[in-house]
Amino acid sequence: MKVTILGTGYVGLVSGACFADFGHTVTCVDKDASKIEKLEAGIMPIYEPGLDDLVAKNVEEERLFFTTDPAEAIRGADAVFIAVGTPSRRGDGHADLSYVYGAAEEIAQLMDGFTVVVTKSTVPVGTGDEVEEIIRKTRPDGDFAVVSNPEFLREGAAIKDFKIPDRVVVGTEDERAREVMKELYRPLFLNETPILFTARRTSELIKYAANAFLAVKITFINEMADLCEKVGANVQEVSRGIGLDGRIGKKFLNAGPGYGGSCFPKDTLALTKTANDHGSPVRIVDTVVEVNAARKKAMAGKVIAAMGGDVSGKTIGVLGLAFKQNTDDMRDAPSLDILPALQAAGATIKAYDPEAMEEASHLLKDIQFAKNAYEAAEGADALVIVTEWDQFRALDLERIKAALKSNVAVDLRNIYSPEDMATKGFAYTSIGRPLINLEP
Ligand SMILES: NC(=O)c1ccc[n+]([C@@H]2O[C@H](COP(=O)([O-])OP(=O)(O)OC[C@H]3O[C@@H](n4cnc5c(N)ncnc54)[C@H](O)[C@@H]3O)[C@@H](O)[C@H]2O)c1
Repeated sequence: MKVTILGTGYVGLVSGACFADFGHTVTCVDKDASKIEKLEAGIMPIYEPGLDDLVAKNVEEERLFFTTDPAEAIRGADAVFIAVGTPSRRGDGHADLSYVYGAAEEIAQLMDGFTVVVTKSTVPVGTGDEVEEIIRKTRPDGDFAVVSNPEFLREGAAIKDFKIPDRVVVGTEDERAREVMKELYRPLFLNETPILFTARRTSELIKYAANAFLAVKITFINEMADLCEKVGANVQEVSRGIGLDGRIGKKFLNAGPGYGGSCFPKDTLALTKTANDHGSPVRIVDTVVEVNAARKKAMAGKVIAAMGGDVSGKTIGVLGLAFKQNTDDMRDAPSLDILPALQAAGATIKAYDPEAMEEASHLLKDIQFAKNAYEAAEGADALVIVTEWDQFRALDLERIKAALKSNVAVDLRNIYSPEDMATKGFAYTSIGRPLINLEP
């Protein structure tokens, strides 16, 4: 199959590299010339484990190509994927579909022969109808079908998620398009991956329903954590106690500073907008959006309280800036709320993140970047763990303690044990777990 991907971001690049690895011939297009130049030079524009090797292998074997010229890529393609961004629209929180519609216009002008236009971007219900309308207007006699194929990959585990997904969802009622989609995902049929064919609108809604459900789960455990702090219970044990129930499941029950990232915040918000527009509000998701935003803001207060209520003139060492581990993605990361609030309260921030410092330097002001965790702790009045990178899970705590000016540690990801930290002499605050004070 000849595949074209419009938009070479996290989703477009990973999808393109994986489809090429399945044996298809793939051209990834992006309007951002610097991204394409980097890729042509073998430099990944994003950090994603294993992606550099997968791209290099498929480029070398001449199945994966990059270009800024959609004409060259779209002509003769069996399937053209739209994998452009759908950020929150400024002012009202609806999904901004201008990039999707822009891509549809380009496809309309350039496609030839039967073309399956696949929307992989996360788009509100009815967008497929709109894309079809745009293409039909320019090409009244065009031979094409518009399919929804939402992407469920997680940054940080994207290649595995794409190649061994829990399911693939394809929204189309066009028989020829269905055959093309089956052929594209044929390697997954061999692994018995469930491939769910639905109507296009159903497929579009499945993506939002999935993300909203996960956001509800996270927010639920975050509120349980707050309650645990008030009543002297331990949220990790609550998580385990409920998660072992097969109806609930263990995943997405880690209490933390609130969800961030490129998907949950904008997708939950967009779902509430769609639901309200149709007079069928999803009140549980409305509440989740509100609770999560408030939580991210409240986290700075937790740090300030742990530092005795006043951080003016103090230095805070911060570990982790990305919205989660194994990515350099800073979109809607909790650090973007927490750090400016600490600075506004008078603190100086020294931060270290294994991959996200370059990206963070464009979004955060006046941060001193450290070259490792120990340098971030050096001379600081407290150490705050914001992102759960594996390399922060086994720090040399003696060295951290010696580097710090005080013994205050705030762990917003619960990666250390309160007992251990107390034994090692830290005044340790975490999320939803009892404080342990060993001092007489
Ligand atoms: N990032 C994730 O983890 C993830 C997971 C599942 C779904 N999604 C969805 O996938 C979509 C893409 O997300 P992303 O994180 O990859 O976005 P991104 O911002 O990383 O990449 C989008 C790319 O599209 C390019 N672009 C815009 N218009 C173009 C055009 N007409 N032709 C060619 N390139 C164009 C931009 O230059 C940019 O490089 C979004 O709808 C998102 O919600 C993202």
